[in-house]
Amino acid sequence: MRKKIVAGNWKMNMDYNEGISLFSEIVNMVRDEKKGDQVAVICAPFIHLNSLAQLSSGVVKIGAQNCHQNESGAYTGEISAKMIKSTGSDYVIIGHSERRQYFAETDVLLSEKTTTALKHNLTPIFCIGETLDERNSGSYFQVIERQLTDGVFNLSAEDFSKIVLAYEPVWAIGTGLTATPEQAQDIHAFIRAKIESKYGVNIADDTTILYGGSCNAKNAPELFAQHDIDGGLIGGASLKSRDFTDIVKALNS
Ligand code: 13P
Repeated sequence: MRKKIVAGNWKMNMDYNEGISLFSEIVNMVRDEKKGDQVAVICAPFIHLNSLAQLSSGVVKIGAQNCHQNESGAYTGEISAKMIKSTGSDYVIIGHSERRQYFAETDVLLSEKTTTALKHNLTPIFCIGETLDERNSGSYFQVIERQLTDGVFNLSAEDFSKIVLAYEPVWAIGTGLTATPEQAQDIHAFIRAKIESKYGVNIADDTTILYGGSCNAKNAPELFAQHDIDGGLIGGASLKSRDFTDIVKALNS
């Protein structure tokens, strides 16, 4: 059975004290709402990882938003997968569209980062998704397929079964424009079919595929009710404890 996950992505928000206070609220609220093996994750800026891990009481998992592809060395300003793991974090977002767009991260680079993250027992949340131009020109299925092929389909079946995918249409991120449940389900089913042709039906069935892009407490129940949508990657709404908790609750829909 694939895992149901709601992961918050705080992006470049929350100073040290703000982060601690928001996270403490989230832990207290999510504790009462999360069922069974559902997973809630907060992917925070690096400065927060260790202190949040101490406060998490196992209720909310911790993730980073990026890692370097190399193990260690002279890469001023960068953070390695091993360092992230040592803070008590379990997840790392790789290939967010903001990294692809503003930091010129390519599929090949992201594939290296994924391999390094797995080596250090971090679960990559690997993001894919098309831009508005790609959606309008009708090339989005090819774009998604290329991102999968070049980014993660080089992994062994064993390694692939450890990753989480997130479909985040770039045109829906931070814009208030959400993909309709049908649009999102369409792509999620396509992604699962591609996984099935590469790795077989069992791994395809067990892969968690999250939706991200203006997901909120109101639209989450309908999105999460889709057959191939296994939770969400949440930006803006993860900065409010009530909204984030309500999205976790929507996993029960
Ligand atoms: P919003 O939920 O703010 O649209 O952001 C989505 C996202 O980029 C999560 O990684």
